[in-house]
Amino acid sequence: MVRRKYVVGNWKMNGLSGALAEAEAIFAGARAHEAVDVALCPPFTLIGPMAALGGATGGQDCHPQPSGAFTGSVSAPMLADAGAALVIVGHSERREGFAERDADVKAKAGAALTAGLSVILCVGEPLGVRESGGAIDYVLAQVQGSLPGDFDPARLAVAYEPIWAIGTGRVPTIEDVAAMHGAIRAALSDRIGEGAAAVRLLYGGSVNGDNAADLLGARDVDGALVGGASLTAAKFLPIVEAAA
Ligand code: G3H
Repeated sequence: MVRRKYVVGNWKMNGLSGALAEAEAIFAGARAHEAVDVALCPPFTLIGPMAALGGATGGQDCHPQPSGAFTGSVSAPMLADAGAALVIVGHSERREGFAERDADVKAKAGAALTAGLSVILCVGEPLGVRESGGAIDYVLAQVQGSLPGDFDPARLAVAYEPIWAIGTGRVPTIEDVAAMHGAIRAALSDRIGEGAAAVRLLYGGSVNGDNAADLLGARDVDGALVGGASLTAAKFLPIVEAAA
C-alpha cells in the first residue's frame, strides 16, 4: 500500500496571533507539494483563526470527556467545532508533565475519533531505556496500551518520538528508526491485521531541513512530527519538500 507522506508541525506553547503569518506562508508553500499532507497544531487559542486560513489544523491534546466540570480543559468536539481536523494525544510532554498514562491516552484517542478528528498518537522511550536496550519493548507496550479498541487505520497515525531526541539536536540512527517503525508496524499488524498497512508512522525528535530527507527515507517512516522547526515557513517548508 502507498501511504501519503504526512508532515505535522507541533507548535507546543508557542505562537501569538502574529504567528498566523507564518502559518499562512506554510500552508501556501505546502500547496505546491500535493503528494504531502501537511498540518499544523498550534495552541488552543490559534486553532480557529489558523483553520480559517484553509490548512489542516489540529489540537495538541483533548479531554476524554465531551463536556463537563473540567476547568481548563478542552474536549475533542470543541476542537472539531473550532475547525480542527486532528489532534495529537500522548505526547511525552503530556505523559511526563501531566502524568498521563497509557489508559488516559487511549481514552483521549477514542474520544477524538468519536468526534470525527484524526489522531496522532505519540510514543517514545526515555534515554535510560534506550541505553539499556529496552526501547522497542517499552514503545510497543505504549502502543498496545494507548491504541483505542477500534479505529479506522486511515484516521490514526503513530508518532515515534524518542524523548531524548526532542529539542536536543540528537537523533537516532536511521537503522534504529527503521527498526522501531518496523516493530510498531508488526505490532499493529498483530492487532488489526491488514489494516496496519494504512496506519502512517511518523518520526519526531529534532527533525530539520538537513536531516529530514534521510529520516523520511527510512523504511516504514511515513512522515514527521516536527516541533521547533515548524514555527517558521523558512525552517518547516524544507522538511515538507524533503517529504515530497
Ligand atoms: O512534537 C514534536 C516533537 O516533540 C519534536 O520536537 O522537533 O523540537 O525536537 P522537536
